[in-house]
Amino acid sequence: MTSAKNGTEPFIQLDKEKRWYWHLDPMAQVSGPRSSGKTFFLYYLMLSVAEIGADIYILDPKRSDLSSLRFCYPDSLQDSHVATTPAKICKILREVTELMNQRYEKYFQSATSKIGADAVELGLQPIFLFFDEVLALIEEDRKLGKEAEQYLKQIILKGRQSSVYTVISSQRLSADTLNTVIRENCGLRVIFGKVQEESYRMALGESFKKLPRAEKGVGKGYIYLDGQGWQTPKAFEAPFMDTSKMDIKQIFTDLLANPHKVYKE
Ligand SMILES: Nc1ncnc2c1ncn2[C@@H]1O[C@H](COP(=O)(O)OP(=O)(O)OP(=O)(O)O)[C@@H](O)[C@H]1O
Ligand SMILES: [Mg+2]
Repeated sequence: MTSAKNGTEPFIQLDKEKRWYWHLDPMAQVSGPRSSGKTFFLYYLMLSVAEIGADIYILDPKRSDLSSLRFCYPDSLQDSHVATTPAKICKILREVTELMNQRYEKYFQSATSKIGADAVELGLQPIFLFFDEVLALIEEDRKLGKEAEQYLKQIILKGRQSSVYTVISSQRLSADTLNTVIRENCGLRVIFGKVQEESYRMALGESFKKLPRAEKGVGKGYIYLDGQGWQTPKAFEAPFMDTSKMDIKQIFTDLLANPHKVYKE
C-alpha cells in the first residue's frame, strides 16, 4: 500500500485484507453469470456507503430486489432516488450528471477555488449510483440505453472530483454492448463464478492472464483493485450477507434515516 493511502482516506473493507479506497480509485464494476452474487455484493457496498452518509441512487432495470429498497427511503425521495424503467433511469442519470457538473463549476472553476482541493477535503457528500444489470436497460430500449451510456461515461471519467461515483453490475461485459470507457475505467473490478476466458479479460483487463487459483461458486471469483500495485487479479470472496440474521432492508432504512456522518453539501 502506498503512503498516500493512510488512515485519513475513506475506504470500504472488502475482505480481511482488501480495501477499496473508492475516492482514490473510483468506480466499480461487478460481473458474473446468473445467480453468481452480483446483486448481493452491491447490497454490501451499498450498506457500506450508507454508513458514511452517502446520497444513494438505485437503478434497477431488471426490477430485482434492489428496487424494492425504494421503500427504505422517505416518501419524498423515492422517485428521485430509485428507478426501474428506461425513461426514469435516464432521468436520474441526467440529474446526477447535472449535479456533478454544477459541483464542478462551483468548486473547481470559480476564481476562489483552491488548486488541488478535492471533494473529500471540501466536505462534499459522496453520491453513489448503484446500477444493477446495465445491459437489461440497453436491451429493453436501445435509444435510451445509449443515452444512459453517455451519462455513465461522463460520470466515470469526471465524477471523482465532484464526489460522484458509480457501481455497475452486468451479466456480460462485451465490447459491442458496453462502452469501453465504462468497462476500462473502474478502480474496482470483480467477477464472480466460472466464466469463459474472454469474460475474464473483459472484466479484469489484460492482467487477467495470470489468474491465481480461486474457489468458484456464489459470491466467489476474482478481484482487481487499481492503485495498489497489483500485477494480477486476486482471488476474492464477497462478504457473506446472512439474511437469516440480518434484515438488509431494515439496516438500509435505519442508515438512510440516521447517517453516521453529515456533510456540508
Ligand atoms: N454475499 C452473499 N451472501 C449471502 N448470500 C449470497 C451472497 N451472494 C449471493 N448469495 C445468495 O445467492 C443468491 C443469488 O445471488 P444474487 O442475486 O446476488 O446473484 P446475481 O448475480 O445478482 O444473479 P442475477 O444474475 O440473477 O441477478 C442470493 O439470492 C443469495 O441467496
Ligand atoms: Mg442480480
